[in-house]
Amino acid sequence: MSKQDTHFFNVFSVVIGLLVVVMLSIFALARHLGATQQMAPLKGDPLVVQDVQARTALPVRVAVAGQDNSALVIAPVAATATASFAMAVPTTGDEVYEQACKACHGLGIAGAPKAGDSAAWGPRRSKGMPTLYDHAIKGFTGSDGVMPPKGGRTDLSDDLIKASLDHMLAM
Ligand code: HEC
Repeated sequence: MSKQDTHFFNVFSVVIGLLVVVMLSIFALARHLGATQQMAPLKGDPLVVQDVQARTALPVRVAVAGQDNSALVIAPVAATATASFAMAVPTTGDEVYEQACKACHGLGIAGAPKAGDSAAWGPRRSKGMPTLYDHAIKGFTGSDGVMPPKGGRTDLSDDLIKASLDHMLAM
């Protein structure tokens, strides 16, 4: 090795050594600041403490006789929560009318005889209730339009459809 090379090597080693020292001190400073400035206040934060307790809690909770077990009560699902994504199944003629018949018969849409319109219902009534029940249940295509079977609610019982027709004719 020439003298110049040796000199370069020495200077280079010192520079690298200094950089390592600077890096280690920055690392130590960061650790120190993290521990004193960030972790310490966090450990006392009630929200963080609550969070840690929730995460480390046993997966099973046991009711203990003689102690306050109110936290174990299973809250019933509110009726409104279920009703919001599934329309309640109708149980009366009135409800069936609202859900299945009113869309057409409420305003007399698409040729449907309007509920409460005696002129429109008069000739139909004279067919007799058994026929009208039958047409409401099985559907009917007349000169005015198409009455779909059960108004489209084929999931409902015949009796409910009859009840909805009774309700509609009483309006
Ligand atoms: C999609 C629209 C529509 C819905 C929903 C609907 N109807 Fe109708 N309905 C009609 C039309 C149109 C007619 C007339 C058909 C004709 O006479 O040409 C009719 C006629 C009728 C008639 C008379 C049938 C006859 O023989 O004259 C009855 C009874 C009836 N509907 C009952 C019901 C009931 C009960 C419901 C609810 C469960 C219902 N409809 C829902 C369109 C509808």
